[in-house]
Amino acid sequence: MEIIKIINLTKVFGKVVAIENITFDVEQGKITAVLGPSGSGKSVLVKHILGLLRPTSGKILYKGIDIFSLPEEKLYEVRRDFSMLLQEGALFDGMTVEENIAFPLKIRKFPKDEIKRRVEFYLESVGLGGFGKRYPSQLSGGQRRRVALARALVTEPEVIILDEPTTGLDPITTESIEELILSIKRKHKEKTFILITHDPFSAFKLSDNIAVLFFGKLICYGERENIISMMESNKTIFHIFKRANLEIAQDEHRIS
Ligand SMILES: Nc1ncnc2c1ncn2[C@@H]1O[C@H](COP(=O)(O)OP(=O)(O)O)[C@@H](O)[C@H]1O
Ligand SMILES: [Mg+2]
Repeated sequence: MEIIKIINLTKVFGKVVAIENITFDVEQGKITAVLGPSGSGKSVLVKHILGLLRPTSGKILYKGIDIFSLPEEKLYEVRRDFSMLLQEGALFDGMTVEENIAFPLKIRKFPKDEIKRRVEFYLESVGLGGFGKRYPSQLSGGQRRRVALARALVTEPEVIILDEPTTGLDPITTESIEELILSIKRKHKEKTFILITHDPFSAFKLSDNIAVLFFGKLICYGERENIISMMESNKTIFHIFKRANLEIAQDEHRIS
């Protein structure tokens, strides 16, 4: 069942058409990748989903509600169902790990003991139990991403948007973060994840559905398995997925 419907969404900045006539559904309880090279419109699309940008035309339905028709305070309520892991993790350097994770709960005025309980729980679930008193500067790149992931989960949102969660990490750390995302998804089956990435391999490894953006246009959307057959009939799609295809061919279980 779809939780978000993106319908004919277009955003124009001056003379730049950032996204053009994008239509697809985000299914509840699935991981949907938004895949595309740099500048293809991924961030612009996601800012619309979060209600941070208004479209030039088109609409977005969240649980059947047209979010751009809502008054500001109602839109603010809808936004609480969402959280986002920002590119590079973006932690507050002056705060400890615990304080970073507690931050979204503090601004929502959660009671102290509930904050404590959730911070401990989510630190543990990203494999960082005992790291709460450290500062971000005392962590490795991979550990900082784990903290950012815990901070995105701690409000227990319905939809979690991961913006390039592994970009800039070495291959081994990338793999451990990908495994962590998959294990969190297995534990929280009802949650919806949107993964923004330029890496086809990561999209194939993590997602159920994949939307491919290219110069602001949606060039294909479908279940991971079906992308393979689309790739065989479309040159652009083929080139985007070429690397992932080769690796997946050697590792059949990933797509079974
Ligand atoms: N606020 C803005 N004003 C003008 N152009 C923008 C703005 N935001 C994004 N763009 C343009 O829209 C296009 C898509 O950008 P973006 O969504 O950031 O790409 P991606 O996240 O896929 O790298 C780019 O050409 C970018 O320069
Ligand atoms: Mg971007």
